[in-house]
Amino acid sequence: MNKTNIYQQRRIALAKQMLSKTGGGIAVISTAPEVARNRDSEFPYRHDSDFFYLSGFEEPGATLVLKVSSNGQIESHLFCRPKDLEREIWDGIRLGPEAAPEKLGVEFAHSNQVLDQKLGELLADQDAIYIRLAESAEADRRLRHWMRQVRSQARAGINPPSEFHDVESLIHEMRLFKDAHEIDIMRKAAAISARAHIRAMQACKPGMYEYQLEAELLHEFRNSGAQSVAYNSIVAGGENTCILHYRAGSTELRGGELCLIDAGCELDGYASDITRTFPINGKFSGPQRALYNITLAAQEAAVAMTKPGNTFMQPHEAALRVLTQGLLDEKLLKLADYGSLENAIEAGAYRRFYMHRTSHWLGMDVHDVGSYREHIEDNSQEEKPWRILKSGMVITIEPGLYIRPADDVDEAFWNIGIRIEDDAVLNDSGCELISRGVPVNADEIEALMKS
Ligand code: GLY
Ligand code: MN
Ligand code: MN
Repeated sequence: MNKTNIYQQRRIALAKQMLSKTGGGIAVISTAPEVARNRDSEFPYRHDSDFFYLSGFEEPGATLVLKVSSNGQIESHLFCRPKDLEREIWDGIRLGPEAAPEKLGVEFAHSNQVLDQKLGELLADQDAIYIRLAESAEADRRLRHWMRQVRSQARAGINPPSEFHDVESLIHEMRLFKDAHEIDIMRKAAAISARAHIRAMQACKPGMYEYQLEAELLHEFRNSGAQSVAYNSIVAGGENTCILHYRAGSTELRGGELCLIDAGCELDGYASDITRTFPINGKFSGPQRALYNITLAAQEAAVAMTKPGNTFMQPHEAALRVLTQGLLDEKLLKLADYGSLENAIEAGAYRRFYMHRTSHWLGMDVHDVGSYREHIEDNSQEEKPWRILKSGMVITIEPGLYIRPADDVDEAFWNIGIRIEDDAVLNDSGCELISRGVPVNADEIEALMKS
């Protein structure tokens, strides 16, 4: 299947959902706005993931409109920036509406300057409109404008839409299941990120600064063709390893301490998300290694539970069991306080040292979209059950332990923060870790850092 067809197929799949819900209607999905950084500078532009998923189009200033008739006929309209020689000399080539149908496989393309007028026409006599609900004041303003145009034609016998539906939940359910094209890109993104982690580990020496390892990561990402980071890189030395969303800063990396790197590139619109923790001087201390091996065993337990038919929570529960047992073994938790492993888990004793979940969906967005609960019609239950894992989903598996200084904590463990994170593609029998290009075993990490 060529790339254009992938996006066409996705538009057809969305249209089918609209047909079965409301017998058709109009869907309107705009891409992300450009955002000013300061004065004349802008943040690097990143398209909206939902918009890109359906169009394959990366330029700003674009909107996709899908018109689905009750007889199943589908029209895709793309609104995009018009060709403009002056602007293109300064800012770069624009596709333009003339070339868009051929390039993107949409039936119609228009200048974004006629979006408001055209929407007034497209919404005429449509019952259902599918949009992002409560997106922004600007989006509400535009919608009011389109609706006013349709309403003003009431005396000509034209009816405005009367049903507003959330388009995101339909697209997000599709995005939760990755096709072969997406998994291929995610595999490549994970391979680049794995190489970046190796590069940073090999470059690491006591006396360097966190930002210098960040530079190593960025070098590998860009040198390998990745367009961007998927999220701000975390490069944390020493006590910073215990700050979950630390950014690479200017702390010196000291021998005897750990470095935690949580970093992944974005390639062709898809994220990777890898964490490794390693000794700055290349050799784990006894307490560091003990906690490292507990975290790795927790990850292995979670990986074993990452398979179709299990719930999203089962890998997390498996990791919690191993982490809690490890904390008891190392006397970071006192068995006497709980009586048993089960009681300690039940009491959430691990939370002091492990305060996040083990997994999240991964895809176009690092914390990707899709419901973590099953869609069931029965509303009598207070909580819907956790999502059943299925082939084609992609999740991270990232247990950790974070030991901050405290009077009741053995000083040998202070400021040890460890997280081990890999990216798993669910297949028919279990999962495949696509980020293991970088070693995870403590001995292998030591050997790599020596080489
Ligand atoms: N890097 C963000 C996360 O691991 O969830
Ligand atoms: Mn993650
Ligand atoms: Mn991460």
